[in-house]
Amino acid sequence: AEAYEMILFERQGAAGIIRLNRPKALNALCDAMMAELADALARMDADPAVAAIIVTGSEKAFAAGADIREMQARRYPATYMDDFVAPWEAVLGVRKPVIAAVAGFALGGGCEMAMMCDIILAAESAKFGQPEINLGMTPGAGGSQRLTRAIGKAKAMEMVLTGRMMGAEEAERAGLVARVVPADALLAEAVKMADTIGGLSAPAVAMAKEAVNAAFELPLREGVRLERRMFLSLFGTEGQQEGMAAFLEKRKPVFRR
Ligand code: CAA
Repeated sequence: AEAYEMILFERQGAAGIIRLNRPKALNALCDAMMAELADALARMDADPAVAAIIVTGSEKAFAAGADIREMQARRYPATYMDDFVAPWEAVLGVRKPVIAAVAGFALGGGCEMAMMCDIILAAESAKFGQPEINLGMTPGAGGSQRLTRAIGKAKAMEMVLTGRMMGAEEAERAGLVARVVPADALLAEAVKMADTIGGLSAPAVAMAKEAVNAAFELPLREGVRLERRMFLSLFGTEGQQEGMAAFLEKRKPVFRR
């Protein structure tokens, strides 16, 4: 934690909070920051005190995209060989739920990173966009695919082709974000969500995340089969015994972590 220069790292309750902290560049995602992010994510995923991870930015920007200053000098095929975008996908390997708490700009790689998280919680100030087209580029970290799946072709195509930004309210209506909250309540709401998750049976949480994510990758029949196997396997957990006993005894369940 001490060694990070571009992110801040703390724990609040069951939440592991990672704050992107490059204010002078609106949290533009440079290689060094993404390496720190990957390291912090792995550490929090391994920390038994953390039930869910929150990735957030500043009031002004979650992240304004890949660092254009850094990318400007890139050429092909050297950039194909080093594939600088690949490490950005570290968040996809995290097994605990990851909540993106987004205020201000989430553009380009910033929007794509938010979409790689499991839940997007947005402040009223959040602005999402894929403006790469204005740079003579296309999205490069999954934006054309994840945005389209999240909000459908009509809006995704317009945004990717014109670079138009979408505000928080529209993003919620379109299905990109789970909920919109006042900016000053954003982190508290995300922590509350993490604490809620922290009170649940950990194997059920991990499988629930895996099952929902499978919906983006598997044909329906295979996804349902995966879900069924997970559901049936949870009958082997303490969580199932405790959860069902507590319901029938009309008390709150106490899940051991
Ligand atoms: N990369 C590098 N620096 C950036 C940046 C980025 N993506 N976004 C903002 N900055 C820097 C600016 O250069 C500026 O630095 P200086 O003060 O040194 O000039 C500082 O952050 C503040 O930015 P602005 O002065 O532009 O702030 P603004 O409030 O006027 O505008 C903005 C905000 C609309 C977000 C504007 O900064 C902007 O359009 N940024 C670029 C957004 C973008 O194109 N993102 C996509 C990147 S490509 C990508 O992400 C590829 C991929 O899919 C993998």
